[in-house]
Amino acid sequence: MNNKVIIFDTTLRDGEQAPGYSMNLEEKLKMAQRLEKLGVNVIEAGFAFASKGDFESVKAIAEQAGDVTVASLSRALQKDIDASCEAIKNARHPRIHTFLATSDLHLQYKLKMSKEEALNQIIEMVTYARNKCPDVEFSLEDATRTDLDYMCKVVEAAIKAGATTINLPDTVGYACPEDITKIFTTVRNNVPNVDKAILSTHNHNDLGMALANSLAAVASGARQVEGTICGIGERAGNTALEEFAMNLKTRSDIYPYTIDIDTKQIYKCARQLSSITNVKPFPSKAIVGKNAFAHESGIHQHGIMANSLTYEIMTPESVGVVKTELVLGKHSGIHAFTSRMEALGYILDKDDSARFFKEFKDLCDRKKTISDRDLIALVESSEKPKENDWILDHFVVNSGNLMTSTACVTLRRGDELKESVAAGTGPVYAAMRAVEKIIDHHFGLVDYDLHAVTEHRDAQGEVIVKITDGKEYYRGRGVSTDVIEASILACITACNHMLDASPMVQGSGINAQQLSLNEDMLAGHSDR
Ligand code: KIV
Ligand code: ZN
Repeated sequence: MNNKVIIFDTTLRDGEQAPGYSMNLEEKLKMAQRLEKLGVNVIEAGFAFASKGDFESVKAIAEQAGDVTVASLSRALQKDIDASCEAIKNARHPRIHTFLATSDLHLQYKLKMSKEEALNQIIEMVTYARNKCPDVEFSLEDATRTDLDYMCKVVEAAIKAGATTINLPDTVGYACPEDITKIFTTVRNNVPNVDKAILSTHNHNDLGMALANSLAAVASGARQVEGTICGIGERAGNTALEEFAMNLKTRSDIYPYTIDIDTKQIYKCARQLSSITNVKPFPSKAIVGKNAFAHESGIHQHGIMANSLTYEIMTPESVGVVKTELVLGKHSGIHAFTSRMEALGYILDKDDSARFFKEFKDLCDRKKTISDRDLIALVESSEKPKENDWILDHFVVNSGNLMTSTACVTLRRGDELKESVAAGTGPVYAAMRAVEKIIDHHFGLVDYDLHAVTEHRDAQGEVIVKITDGKEYYRGRGVSTDVIEASILACITACNHMLDASPMVQGSGINAQQLSLNEDMLAGHSDR
């Protein structure tokens, strides 16, 4: 049997639909680019029929994609398949992914359909999809609780109708590796045309078994694994693709399968996801958690120094973790700067290179030692201002434990300079309120996160904010050695996104009384 395993990424569909992980179009495009660099074979870009926004993002990802296959999810219904088809038509390699539940529970209570009716609908819709697209995946939703005889019938019929991939998902995360082995072995041994399609596995992690189940499926003949970066997804999430990839790489003695993943891109991809969603992996999360490669105990450190193999089963470099080094300083020139950025994976054009170099020089005036993490934060927090964007000119805050904080903020937009003064329970709150007055557009603060980019007292603070105008959410990041400045920068970026989405309605936005800046949220973050 061919040992190549296809990696199907559903971060932008199954992952994105989980609470707290929603992304806008621009963010999805950035993430799709990263996934392609990582080497996934299929990107499930969304569920085109679900909403206009979903349709537009699937379409934009399809148009941007290079050689990667772009899939769109569709229920086994003509209108869903039509929407998917339209959205992916410009991809070099489009795929329609259609599904119908096949377990008795789902048929009886959710779909209210007999097995026969479901089988007919599957045949009809897979045929319909295949007539529109040469690459069709059919998923038997809740496969792991489906009667095995019926499953074999459905798989045979779906392949006959034109499905090129058959996915057997553990939708509810109930299966254990023994179940998965039995299911895949039964299908392979009993479906006469099984060799005409690729078998795929898609596992949810409700019992913490998603990765083990995916590995068991591959050992039993699955040649496509579906999952997400960091395992994000419905409820307890999906198989974490970085964990699957590193198992294959580290335990090739047990798992002799090949994948196209460039494991050195893993860390950057996970970082991109957390910087977009502002959800960090748990510190002890395998492969990409902050502590995944930290050897704190003296005994371990001693062993590692004698021979790294004593405690290290894989190197941080193999997943692209950048070691903090003192690389550049005040006297470094633009060439040293751009080549260091290239080494970190950022290919900058001339304009960006000049812009970031200026920011780097400003940072050198504030901070003696610039680490790779500072450089990464600098690039990732900085968005090229668009013509109509507000940018920070200057600010002054006045704050203390026995007084009401005040902030005077001046913003610039083209030639226009606008200043405002506001008070608040802390300096960040006061400064954000001043920004709100200048842009004349109310917003609510939904989330505020402040952390240090590196160790030591002169570290830069990175602030990530999420605001809302009552309809949509907008995120912004800001980095500075001054956390008030970082907060204002993050706030302005988020506001620019908000104004981009509804530009001309001055004085609008969320009802100020209903949900204005959230004082409670900032209460713990207002100290310098
Ligand atoms: O978990 C699941 O069953 C799914 C299908 C739509 C593939 O996500
Ligand atoms: Zn799923």
